[in-house]
Amino acid sequence: GVARRLYHEKVVDHYENPRNVGSLDKNDKYVGTGLVGAPACGDVMKLQIRVDETGKIVESRFKTFGCGSAIASSSYATELIRGKTLEEASKIKNKEIAEELKLPPVKLHCSMLAEDAIKAAVKDLQKKMGASSA
Ligand code: FES
Ligand code: FES
Repeated sequence: GVARRLYHEKVVDHYENPRNVGSLDKNDKYVGTGLVGAPACGDVMKLQIRVDETGKIVESRFKTFGCGSAIASSSYATELIRGKTLEEASKIKNKEIAEELKLPPVKLHCSMLAEDAIKAAVKDLQKKMGASSA
């Protein structure tokens, strides 16, 4: 059916043409890095964000060692967070990612990994900014 086709198209597209793969300089004061693992399967995701002077996310990169759904989730996450503030980004729920990619229930933890990675990147950057302005 249509839903099934959409599921395949979106996940496969992000899996085969992942957006924003790569790394940002983690020592850049405007860059936050999140590195998280999924205890259930051992997959690892690194997600980085860069903000401009107003605190808006202008760039994001990821590297994921994991299943196709984890790669698709992180790829979509990098698109989703661009243009958001740190606060807006930290409110992103894995549900939003899972719904967009039409992930089946057994793959929900893959999108959870993306939510965790975003939160970790935001936290890292907030810590950095707090430290540098002190
Ligand atoms: Fe196999 Fe994640 S459990 S790649
Ligand atoms: Fe573990 Fe996808 S992240 S199976």
